[in-house]
Amino acid sequence: MLSISGWAYKILFMTLPPEIKPHQSVPLLKALHILTRDGKLNQDSRRKLKQVYHLVNFIAPLLNTVLKIEENPTLVDHGAGKSYLGFILYDLLLKPLSQGRVIGIETRGELVAQSIALAQACEFERMQFEHLSVAASMESPLIPDRVDFVTALHACNTATDDAIQFGLKKQARYMVLVPCCQAEVAEVLRKNKAKSLSQTPLSEIWRHPIHTREFGSQITNVLRCLQLEAAGYRVTVTELVGWEHSMKNELIVAEYTGQKRKNAQDRLAAILAELNLSELQTRFQV
Ligand SMILES: C[S@@+](CC[C@H](N)C(=O)[O-])C[C@H]1O[C@@H](n2cnc3c(N)ncnc32)[C@H](O)[C@@H]1O
Repeated sequence: MLSISGWAYKILFMTLPPEIKPHQSVPLLKALHILTRDGKLNQDSRRKLKQVYHLVNFIAPLLNTVLKIEENPTLVDHGAGKSYLGFILYDLLLKPLSQGRVIGIETRGELVAQSIALAQACEFERMQFEHLSVAASMESPLIPDRVDFVTALHACNTATDDAIQFGLKKQARYMVLVPCCQAEVAEVLRKNKAKSLSQTPLSEIWRHPIHTREFGSQITNVLRCLQLEAAGYRVTVTELVGWEHSMKNELIVAEYTGQKRKNAQDRLAAILAELNLSELQTRFQV
């Protein structure tokens, strides 16, 4: 088991960077390479930790709300990577509560194996990791029929879209998404460029590839928000701190209210038609 206790912990804690919280597992942070072996935090790790804390702080009040109605909430983290978010969230929120569980979904087998080993070493019994794609996890018997939270932090390309479909299928109460670049929409925009050029002054967007790519990314997130609203979620969009140098810093938080917005559905369909993206209808379907 990875643990230190008593005086050793007190002495170590006094020398740790101020970002490290009391009772936070130092061995865990070292195993995740957030802290160096001598307990220091480098620039990259500081930024990563700031992002993860920001998400954990966002999720904490949502978790408290869910705990009033669900004793053992499940959070599924898609495109988990090294599972920084899952581990730190478990350590800070779920471990002290002795309630709730985290499931990490990841396509890279070696990262899944590492996470399983680390969870065992930390005795984080309510953590589970599955070597699955987001799409496959929807049908997998290893995943419960209903989940409470879906998170996807920089899950590549369309993995965020699959995570939304997963959340809709599993009736997630909350979805917390920080999308990565999505290439699919920009590709269809480019493919139908000739048709669009003759239709609208917006065709300026198709003149320079970088504009098409960035516009594709932005409009993807607009469509995702409309999709979530059409499916009965209240959506807020803000910025993820600690990622200021990147375009991939949009934080989408969706809370299920059950009020399906017909006008969101109509707007979604109208945008797809206007931009000649109708072939992506199933991607954004509710
Ligand atoms: C940029 S990393 C982000 C990792 C982690 N969420 C984080 O923020 O540290 C994206 C991860 O998503 C995984 N991934 C990409 N597509 C996926 C898919 N369709 N299903 C599951 N995992 C996927 C990649 O293997 C990679 O580990």
